[in-house]
Amino acid sequence: MNTLHIPVLVKQTIAFLVSKPSGIYVDCTLGTGGHFRALSQHLDRESYMIGIDADPQAVQHCTEHLSISQPHQFITSNFADLKRVCYRAGFQSVDGILMDLGLSSFALDNSARGFTYSQNGPLDMRFAPNISQTAADFINTASQSELVQVFREYGEERHSQKIARRIIEERAKNAIDTTDQLAAIIKAIVPGEFRTKSLSRIFQAIRIYINNELEVLREGLSAAVTLLAPSGRLVIISYHSLEDRIVKQYFKNEARDCTCPPEFPVCQCHHRARLKILTHRPILPDKFEIEDNSRARSAKLRAAEKLPG
Ligand SMILES: C[S@@+](CC[C@H](N)C(=O)[O-])C[C@H]1O[C@@H](n2cnc3c(N)ncnc32)[C@H](O)[C@@H]1O
Repeated sequence: MNTLHIPVLVKQTIAFLVSKPSGIYVDCTLGTGGHFRALSQHLDRESYMIGIDADPQAVQHCTEHLSISQPHQFITSNFADLKRVCYRAGFQSVDGILMDLGLSSFALDNSARGFTYSQNGPLDMRFAPNISQTAADFINTASQSELVQVFREYGEERHSQKIARRIIEERAKNAIDTTDQLAAIIKAIVPGEFRTKSLSRIFQAIRIYINNELEVLREGLSAAVTLLAPSGRLVIISYHSLEDRIVKQYFKNEARDCTCPPEFPVCQCHHRARLKILTHRPILPDKFEIEDNSRARSAKLRAAEKLPG
């Protein structure tokens, strides 16, 4: 059963994103269109909107259910291909770009997608069907050290070694194809009070790995900054520290002229600042929003503006 996603930090997103109500705007993570709809209500009829999602089910949902008054298009694509998508749509530059990272409730609550340990389903976890490896493929074929590396790097899970060893033992008896099988292995290793956190961390780690999320985020950020017109705005909402660290560091690098190591006597990189940071600390949801929508609790919003030149 698919449930609709409640968009987070909507007012703040619009306030940072919209600098020109007649501009061209791209929502790189359309989901079920909550931010897209809100954005359309703050733009005028001369504006143009593009909504992208890697998940064809999200794009289909918006095509069927979202009614938007200005000209717009919905496109199934990974935002790593943002430049190609915009060029094909006829735009060399745009005025605002939004990335609301991760997963929508629409996909999370659909047990057939295998993202959640709280419902049984096939261990899939792909954002898009064209991703070649499912979570089950990875769990059933990776070496113990590969499993440990993914659990540590993307989940920061301290029981990684024991969980990986148990996976290897269990899959020698039976293939691990369902979320329940994987959850049972984690529950057997991790003591009661820490279980929920370990379940979330391991499921998150596998999802990040299968969808190559961190590398794709770096590519998306780079494409977005190149595409923005002077004074155009970039807004990123992230949900875990690995993503937020990448966004923070990227903004920092793009907001300064030289990025050479401090020991270099003269600049060799010739890098020029392209962004002005608008949020020196991330914007967080208030307690009322978190009470209404528990999935907002880990959200962090960062925004930047493209410098002229
Ligand atoms: C948190 S949801 C966005 C929810 C949306 N803002 C709304 O209001 O409904 C994140 C969406 O981004 C999509 N997504 C994640 N990574 C992506 C990527 N690299 N390229 C395109 N879409 C991606 C997911 O499929 C999901 O639908």
